[in-house]
Order: sequence, then C-alpha cells, then structure tokens
Amino acid sequence: MQRILALAAAGLAALTLYALALADEPVVIKFSHVVAENTPKGQMANKFKELVEEKTGGAVVVEVYPNSQLFGDDKVLEAMLLGDVHMAAPALSKFSRYTDVLALYDLPFLFEDMDAVDRFQQSEQGQAMLSSVSKKGLIGLGYLHNGMKQLSSSKPLRVPEDAKGLKFRIMSSEVLEAQFEAIDAAPLKKPFSEVFTLLQTRAIDGQENSWSNIYSKKFFEVQPYITESNHGLLDYMVVTSKELWMGLSDEQRAQIKEALDESLAFGNEVAAQKAIEDKQKIAESGRSEIIELTPAQRAQWVEVMRPVWKQFEMEIGPELIEAAYQANEG
Ligand code: LMR
Repeated sequence: MQRILALAAAGLAALTLYALALADEPVVIKFSHVVAENTPKGQMANKFKELVEEKTGGAVVVEVYPNSQLFGDDKVLEAMLLGDVHMAAPALSKFSRYTDVLALYDLPFLFEDMDAVDRFQQSEQGQAMLSSVSKKGLIGLGYLHNGMKQLSSSKPLRVPEDAKGLKFRIMSSEVLEAQFEAIDAAPLKKPFSEVFTLLQTRAIDGQENSWSNIYSKKFFEVQPYITESNHGLLDYMVVTSKELWMGLSDEQRAQIKEALDESLAFGNEVAAQKAIEDKQKIAESGRSEIIELTPAQRAQWVEVMRPVWKQFEMEIGPELIEAAYQANEG
C-alpha cells in the first residue's frame, strides 16, 4: 500500500513538474533579417534580444537570424503571416504589397538629411504610417535608420546621362523602379542576398545602398565607383504579426516595447556612426573610388528624378508628401 502511495505521489510530482515546465516554457520570438550582424539593423536586433531576455527574466526569448539565413526579404512578411517567423525589420521599400503610403520614403531627394527624417518620423503623420500595414495583419512597432543611399556602379556616375542604359538592382518598389527609369537606366528587382553575385558576375552594372550595406556585404570590392549621391533613404520598419502581439500578456507587450525603443535608439546611433566609418573604410581600401558631386551635378540628378514624386502623388497622398518635405525646414 505504502509503495502504491509512494508511486502515486511520485507520479503526481512528475505531472506537476511537467505542467510547471509547460507553463514556464518561454515565448520564442524569431527575428529574421537580411543584413550582416555588424550593421545598424544587425546590432539593433542583437541588442533587442539582450534587452528582451533581461527585462522578461527569460520568459521571452529572441532568436536572431541574420544574413537572410531564415528568410530573404522577398518572403519574410508572408512567412510572418503564416507564423513561421515573428519579427523582422524590412526596408520601408519592401512593404508595397501591404500598403501604399510607405512608398513616400522612397521618393528621391525628399529628405535633406537624417535630422529631417527623424522630425518627420516622430511627427503625428510619421507615426500614423506605422499602422498602415495593420489591415494586412501586421503591426508596425517603430522605425529604424540605416541612412542615405549612394549609387555604386561599374562606371563613374557624375551626371544622370552617365547611368543611361545601365542595369541597377533595386528593392521591390515601384518608386525605385520609376526613379531609375527617369534616368533611362534599367531597374531590376532582386533580393538583397543576390546583389553581391549579380555585381561580381557583371549581370548588373550597379545598385543603390547605404554605406554600411555597401561595406558589410563587400559591394565596394566589386564596384569600382561609388557616387556619394545621398539621393534617397534606406530606413526600416520593425514589424510583428498581430497574432504574436495579441498572444502576449500586457506585461510582456510593455516589456518588449520598452526593449525595442531602447534598441532602436541604440541602432540609430550605430547608423549615424557607420555612415561615417564605413564610408571611411571603403575610401581607405582603395578598391572603389568615391565620387563627390559638385552642386551643379547634383542639381541635374534632382531635376530628372524629382518628377517621380508627381507619378506617385495620388497613391501616397499630396499632403503627406508636403508634410515630409516640410520636415527639412527644421
Ligand atoms: C536592400 O535590400 O538593399 C536593403 O533593404 C537591405 C537591408 O535590409 O538593409
């Protein structure tokens, strides 16, 4: 009898432990991105992991998958809606299937510098744009900077005429497509993970990206010229799925949001530093010549690319474009 009781007690204890273990099972957030770890987004994601795990005492665990290891940028949002990945921070150019308004950020020569970008993103209109993907089951949690885009190419680009007929890889954005068509070049939408090989094999002639991406993915080793055009913005929106977000407790949501806000501030600092340091490293490498534009040359790029705004005015909204442009005033 005693033996039976002891066995029953042991069984009960095991069951209780099992139930406790189940209850204590941490929530796992898979965060997928396409860039190297030593970039603003890579570092932000790693910081986010550290802070979430610290603030939740391990109740929420973040697994970060860099370098398109888990999903490329063409698949990650679909995968998120299927529950195969829980967070990502795609470039704002990659949301065209989910909303029209974020295309604003692709308009060439819209923002003069990152301070203007900040002013607009923190404004009521800028913040409201984060919810533009919610009808599709996604939640925009915040913006992250990378920085201004530069044009890299197999030949020197000083005036728009120089780009005529060249093939440029672009992100999946119609505005970017129109931007390259405006200079009579041929844009090709390709995932980020393919860019290096496309450049190396000369399947394409050029691409546009931030200094940190050109450096960390070694594009500068296979592109002899980089024009410091600062013609557009490469920024990100951190997104999650409604399904994941609503499945968390209020406390977990607050802890995660706090961790995210802190890691975004950190990532933005990294972005500002990398825009200077990575450009410097490229210049020192001697692999790629950095071309600075004279004000007259730059004015030519502005003149041919600016009409793209008109093409997308109705889709994005003229007031929104005006508000973003006004952010340059300070
Ligand atoms: C690109 O595809 O060029 C960028 O969006 C990559 C990134 O996420 O910075």
